[in-house]
Amino acid sequence: MMNIAVFASGTGSNFDAIMRAVEAGDLDVNVALLVCDKIGAPVIEKAQNYQVDTVVFTPKLYGNKAAYEHALLKDCESRNIDLIVLAGYMRLIGPTLLKPFEKRIINIHPSLLPAFPGKDAIGQAFQSKVKVTGVTVHFVDEGMDTGPIIDQEAVRIEDGDTEEDVQTKIQCVEHELYPRVIQSLLVKEESTK
Ligand code: GAR
Repeated sequence: MMNIAVFASGTGSNFDAIMRAVEAGDLDVNVALLVCDKIGAPVIEKAQNYQVDTVVFTPKLYGNKAAYEHALLKDCESRNIDLIVLAGYMRLIGPTLLKPFEKRIINIHPSLLPAFPGKDAIGQAFQSKVKVTGVTVHFVDEGMDTGPIIDQEAVRIEDGDTEEDVQTKIQCVEHELYPRVIQSLLVKEESTK
């Protein structure tokens, strides 16, 4: 079975959705590791409740990005991680992790990329008054929310929707889309063996 590591910085609702999909038998992976860069982030407790190994690190305590990514690389290698899944991990991935995990790091972003990359994508879409936004899952490269798109799903912003309404709709889509995309990557990988 494929081993995945989830990298997250915050609430962890996508982490939770992935774990629920695994428990329901809809996603055939072993979630072997949660990596979090914020002490006290709610996702840490979620991982502990699911008894998932957790690595919490403080980037500032390392000399540079290469130093902490080197440590994370060792954590991933020691658990035979096949795929790194970014779920609200609010940092760019550098070459130290990207090179050994080429095409094996994916990210979810709450907009129809290339529209509204970066922070607060939902707020950006809401303020732009677009009628359609959505969710993108893509392979990670060195850019901010760039890299080849794997799948996308649209979300309509109706007249009268508040920003919170849009966020709720986006999260509903994310929680269904991310496990499904991860599962589809496994099926593709199996068929190329
Ligand atoms: C999600 O909406 C995810 O798409 C977004 O962070 C949120 C994390 O929520 N990621 C980005 O904006 C990446 N640029 P969660 O902690 O509840 O899963």
